Amino acid sequence: MPWDPAQYLSFGSERLRPALDLLAQVPLEAPRLVVDLGCGPGHVTRILQARWPSARVLGVDRSPDMLSRASTDVPGPAWRQADLATWAPEAPVDLLFANASLHWLEDHAALFPRLMGFLSPGGCLAVQMPRNHDRPSHQAAFAVAEEGPWRERLVPRLRRQPVSEPETYLEWLAPRAATLDIWETDYVHRLEGPEPVVAWTRGSLLVPLLEALEPDEREAFLAAYRDRLRRAYPPDASGRTTFRFRRLFIVARPSALA
Ligand SMILES: C[S@@+](CC[C@H](N)C(=O)[O-])C[C@H]1O[C@@H](n2cnc3c(N)ncnc32)[C@H](O)[C@@H]1O
Repeated sequence: MPWDPAQYLSFGSERLRPALDLLAQVPLEAPRLVVDLGCGPGHVTRILQARWPSARVLGVDRSPDMLSRASTDVPGPAWRQADLATWAPEAPVDLLFANASLHWLEDHAALFPRLMGFLSPGGCLAVQMPRNHDRPSHQAAFAVAEEGPWRERLVPRLRRQPVSEPETYLEWLAPRAATLDIWETDYVHRLEGPEPVVAWTRGSLLVPLLEALEPDEREAFLAAYRDRLRRAYPPDASGRTTFRFRRLFIVARPSALA
């Protein structure tokens, strides 16, 4: 059960907003080479290309399904299938933009300085990562994974804290940065439809967990997860569900020594 572009895009506007908030803080006038790291279905790549029409824009992702959707839907950018853990650009990059992707990678202590090293002088690294792992949406998935008969298969796949504290990124990046802007935002979404938080996490957090289960186990996992979420996220009188979601933002420009 690989990444599903349609499932991911089902909360398109809620998922787009942080990318736009990040883009608004990118201080570049006319980057020549822009790379969208973990570009997914390409809807953010499209916005990067529209923001800088004369830039060369490249979307990089590991998922063939996401890239196939991106190349069908979004003319203009080039697309490359690669694992960001080992990918390196062919030339220095003016903007590395990573919206909701780098939390899937391990070892940020090595990754972030490495990415800074790919930038041209005056370039920019712009990153947004979800940091909701201590909230019920994520804790409930961890609990169901630990408590079911699938425990042995799922526990090694749990990524309980894939994103560190903001201060930790500051520590890693400050020695390499001429300018560094780090902030967090809590988005208080009001989602429509039945059990929308399950639909949300099915497009992201649950992907690697459901992938490890047989179809009947998947149903059992989702039933147990739904049960916990119903208590944590009850709908209000209007039928909408309030879903608070924290995200971390980083905009860094390299110093001469990066
Ligand atoms: C949540 S989606 C974000 C997509 C897009 N950036 C956006 O803003 O909507 C995360 C994407 O990261 C990709 N991804 C996860 N781990 C990756 C890796 N190691 N290398 C390349 N892409 C990866 C997934 O395939 C997926 O398309």
